[in-house]
Amino acid sequence: MALDFLRQALREHLAWWGLRHFTSDREYFAWQRQQLSIEELNQLNSQAERKRTGDRFDEIAFYDLAAQPTILPVLYSQRYEYYEEIGLRTTARLGQAKAVLDFGCGIGVLTIFYARLFPEKNFVGVDRSSASVAVAQGKADKLGLRNLRFACVDVETEPLSGAYDLVVVTHALVQAEQDRGLPSRSWRAFEREQDSSQQLSFEQRTGLAIRLDRLCQVLNPSGRMIVNEKTRQLARRVPFQRALANRGLRLAERPALIRYQTVEEVVDDGPLYVLDRKGEAALNWDEQPERDQGQLFDPGAVSMSAGDADRMLYENHWPSAQRAWEQLKDRQVISETTRQAADGRQVHAERGRSRGQHYLYCANTFDQRQLVIVEEAHSAMLDEYYQEIIRGLT
Ligand SMILES: C[S@@+](CC[C@H](N)C(=O)[O-])C[C@H]1O[C@@H](n2cnc3c(N)ncnc32)[C@H](O)[C@@H]1O
Repeated sequence: MALDFLRQALREHLAWWGLRHFTSDREYFAWQRQQLSIEELNQLNSQAERKRTGDRFDEIAFYDLAAQPTILPVLYSQRYEYYEEIGLRTTARLGQAKAVLDFGCGIGVLTIFYARLFPEKNFVGVDRSSASVAVAQGKADKLGLRNLRFACVDVETEPLSGAYDLVVVTHALVQAEQDRGLPSRSWRAFEREQDSSQQLSFEQRTGLAIRLDRLCQVLNPSGRMIVNEKTRQLARRVPFQRALANRGLRLAERPALIRYQTVEEVVDDGPLYVLDRKGEAALNWDEQPERDQGQLFDPGAVSMSAGDADRMLYENHWPSAQRAWEQLKDRQVISETTRQAADGRQVHAERGRSRGQHYLYCANTFDQRQLVIVEEAHSAMLDEYYQEIIRGLT
């Protein structure tokens, strides 16, 4: 199917759900205020906060509330571009599958879209929010879809039934958004140890283990999985990929980085993985940082940063700062500190000199790197930054 046709069909489908596409915060929030009472807004905000910090019952309560008829279009309009991004990519990959499971389907926006497009395939949407499932089933019934059904199941407490040749999961496997993931071996490296107890701990505290195990149980041996989670940061990406690989899942395509906007905010998530369990893997799992915009330091050509442009010779806040630091010529350390921060990160801060220029380098085991280089005349500024970092660690 042509992309333009699909995009148009999806936009009509989203409009049928009452979703609107906003690109301005001002317009979105003005519309939100018209649609929702102060009480509804307060209830939504406090339930969202409880979801962030609470247990599975708080999470279920949030999605039940989000499925209420006044709240649904307002909240889910924020996901308009997300639906476009994920919906179109998934549609293009439904392939020959006859039986498709959409796990954590929520209110079924995309599940119903797929079922409308492919009447010859059978779809099942599963979610543990009973209010979301009721909305999804109601909408499917309105369209008289016979190739789709929804079920309220919490895989944390019960297994799934059936057998599928395609399982689709988006934003439903790794529940703890704030979980930082697995630290690297040391501040000098981006690699993660192959440590089964740390891996198990990540999978258990994020709920990933039980969800993936249940999905693997209903995936046919020759079936595929399409998975997209908020696992873009290396510290989350590595244990997530290892969890997939440990269950015999292999990359059927090169993972795709996902970017969309929620109104004005640019969101980078994914990668989106297409997986299968067939024979030898042709593609390797990538456990390295993404390519970034940082350049190596060239003492001959001075690159400027915003703000301090007249004082900085070079500034790099990306993982590539590590290579730039390693390549500094005749590096002399003036002072350095390596400490364990209160939140578990190991942090290294270093003040030094390289061929008459001064640098500050900072690195930690959650992949943050920062290298700043100045002329001798401005070195006091780096001393101040250095002290600030050390104070922040105590
Ligand atoms: C962020 S929403 C994503 C919804 C949908 N996939 C989408 O992309 O719009 C996550 C959904 O996963 C569901 N979910 C989370 N854990 C689940 C579990 N253990 N069993 C069933 N559903 C679950 C939640 O109820 C929620 O509706």
